[in-house]
Amino acid sequence: MFLSHLECTSCGLCHDWSHLQNLCTACHRPLFAIYDLDAVGHSLKQETLRTREKSLWRYRELLPLPADVDPVSLGEGGTPLLRAKKFADDVDLWIKDESQNPTQSFKARGMAVAVSMAKHLGATKLAVPSAGNAGGALAAYAARAGLEAHIFMPRDTPRANIIECRELGAHVTLIDGLITDCGAEIARRKTAEGWFDMSTLKEPYRVEGKKTLGYELAEQLDSQLPDVILYPTGGGTGLIGMWKAFDEMEALGWIGKKRPRMFSVQATGCAPIVRAFENGDSTAAEFPDAHTCASGLRVPKAIGDFLILTILRQSNGGAVAVDDDEMVRVAREVGSSEGLFVSPEGSACFAALKSLCATRKIAPHERVVVFNTSSGIKYLDCCEP
Ligand SMILES: Cc1ncc(COP(=O)(O)O)c(C=O)c1O
Ligand SMILES: [Zn+2]
Repeated sequence: MFLSHLECTSCGLCHDWSHLQNLCTACHRPLFAIYDLDAVGHSLKQETLRTREKSLWRYRELLPLPADVDPVSLGEGGTPLLRAKKFADDVDLWIKDESQNPTQSFKARGMAVAVSMAKHLGATKLAVPSAGNAGGALAAYAARAGLEAHIFMPRDTPRANIIECRELGAHVTLIDGLITDCGAEIARRKTAEGWFDMSTLKEPYRVEGKKTLGYELAEQLDSQLPDVILYPTGGGTGLIGMWKAFDEMEALGWIGKKRPRMFSVQATGCAPIVRAFENGDSTAAEFPDAHTCASGLRVPKAIGDFLILTILRQSNGGAVAVDDDEMVRVAREVGSSEGLFVSPEGSACFAALKSLCATRKIAPHERVVVFNTSSGIKYLDCCEP
């Protein structure tokens, strides 16, 4: 195992990885897993990856679980990167189809790694606030691991997510409020109940699972990262994870210095990152009256806001808001042009692509990757009859 320690993303304080950790004990900001990349470089060659299984555990040396411990896995990761056939035919558009993960969303990546580590480090009861898909993924991996899952979701979470969690044996509590209220309820009760808090970026390993998006992109594009990435941003874990993966890959000598321009895509009804980006702020204030049918984007306050904003600026990218009607309309366009039934969050990226091309922030022929983070089948309530 090449994990050496956990490091605070804000104050740099080091923490021991070998017992359960949430936030930095000094400043209460997220922790990152730090690896001995020199040692990884000696033991893993990029070419070796081709010979391995397709799941994200192909990057085992760059993931936190000790080598002799079996991961809790349902075959997550290794999703296709599809070249768009008709949509936006003036750019070189690629779609990373994350709906092909277990539980039909990219949340499986983060939960596979985080549940594996939580189990290894002795947790027995896992709790998460969820906009929907993270709950489904936790329910699945906790069931697979033989652990309890306690899931707190807004009452108006899509029905498919709620039913999925219950069918997978989780304890589901519906809250009259937003994901931030769900998180506050867990924080209030977790000590008394003996729950380990699996909130995104409040434990160090969901981001490790999500960073494999970045490793896969590099592998699927022969180490040539795209010019632009459009990522539907709630908590921002995938965006932060990919950026971490790019830095790790550069240290390993697998890629050069070039980075994609990273764009956060949010919903007009909940766009804290867009607003902070436009105002030049380094953190994002809570977005009032958050509402959108893209439930994964209904995150009014993200603990990793400062990390997201730094990445958008360092990469010379930006942030775009899309309204719900446009998401629903564009989802149908993607469906009929590409054969993919995308989620509203995925659709938001396609809609953002159109507006970024129209304003010339993306030039013709640039290579762009969008993420379909979940299947449209989980959002039937959003579709017109
Ligand atoms: C389908 C979907 N897309 C995007 C997101 C946002 O993901 P992140 O928290 O990594 O920004 C979520 C989060 O719930 C989601 O369920
Ligand atoms: Zn700190």
